[in-house]
Amino acid sequence: MKKLRTRIEKISNIKSASAIFDEAGAIIREGSLVAFPTETVYGLGANGLDADACAKIYEAKGRPSDNPLILHVADRAMIDRAATVTEMAERVLAAFAPGPVTVILPKRDEVPPRVTGGLSTVGIRMPDSDIARALIRAAGVPIAAPSANRSGRPSPTTAAAVFADMEGKIPLILDGGSCRFGVESTIVDCTGERAEILRPGAITREMLAEVLGELAPPPILREEEAPRAPGMKYTHYAPLAPLTLIDAPREKLYDAFCVAVREAAENGKRPGVIVSRELAEALSALVPSKRIAVYGDAGDLSAMAANLYESLRYFDDADADVLFAETVEEAGLGVAIMNRLKKAAGGRIRFID
Ligand code: TXA
Ligand code: MG
Repeated sequence: MKKLRTRIEKISNIKSASAIFDEAGAIIREGSLVAFPTETVYGLGANGLDADACAKIYEAKGRPSDNPLILHVADRAMIDRAATVTEMAERVLAAFAPGPVTVILPKRDEVPPRVTGGLSTVGIRMPDSDIARALIRAAGVPIAAPSANRSGRPSPTTAAAVFADMEGKIPLILDGGSCRFGVESTIVDCTGERAEILRPGAITREMLAEVLGELAPPPILREEEAPRAPGMKYTHYAPLAPLTLIDAPREKLYDAFCVAVREAAENGKRPGVIVSRELAEALSALVPSKRIAVYGDAGDLSAMAANLYESLRYFDDADADVLFAETVEEAGLGVAIMNRLKKAAGGRIRFID
């Protein structure tokens, strides 16, 4: 692939940036890529109706081609162009769109098979971010966009993180600052009898149950069973140094981290920790501050979600070679946080009773 100069355009005001949106929309229509912020994470966008443009997404990300893309739309007319909206999806969209949710629907013929990895269904998301919607409107087509990271890396929640992964591969990054939610959209399959959550996110099971009634139970994945959202089977969100989660009752958390940190140091390692503010303060005598990433006050799940990926990326150049992270309770938004943490850790969890 030819190396491109990657430009970052800071957008502080949508109205005064119309020339940039005109240009970005033209880049999309011409079949090239633009990275843009959403309220969840940054996306790597291409014309979702152009198979060749979408092929560039797979190339830039190093993404397996059987992993389908989701389409981002600005309005209802664009949804109807790409998919058949089921009754279940109507309710989800009425309650949560625009917002951090993706509905899986039967696709229409206009959507190329390359976008959906050959599936007969397509993921549709109407982002709440003004910048994302202005870009989609300027392009005039649904925008296919996965998270704008290299495949397997933590999703980017800042323009700088996109640049770190995509420099030289794409012409333009729209910079809208940090993403509000920080974890990718909740994916809800609305094609079956009961709605099924394929990926947890900021729209929680409880919120969905309120508008849909009973949902399909959470999948207990057997080894041989392929995940329903194809992307969930790949290694994900991994920081460069190996990560282990430490799951301990509050009163034992500090001791558990002390043991882990001392053990690592005895083995000649430089441990880094990703922890709540409270634990960071307690550990400050043991771990140098440059090897501590704070992801929020204990119990502040919104802050922890918003800072999660930046905390993982912080250690790309923070001189640590093993990482330990504090876990959260798996309820509400905590389900999405733990889903990403477990994948980032490749399943390594230390349980302390
Ligand atoms: O918040 C988000 O959803 C972000 C922002 C940029 O909008 N996008 C995002 O895209 O996370 P991506 O490609 O990183 O994750 C989409 C997930 C993948 O795991 C993919 O396998 C799954 O959605 N997916 C896409 N189409 C599907 C389909 N038709 N059926 C089941 N799963 C699908
Ligand atoms: Mg992704």
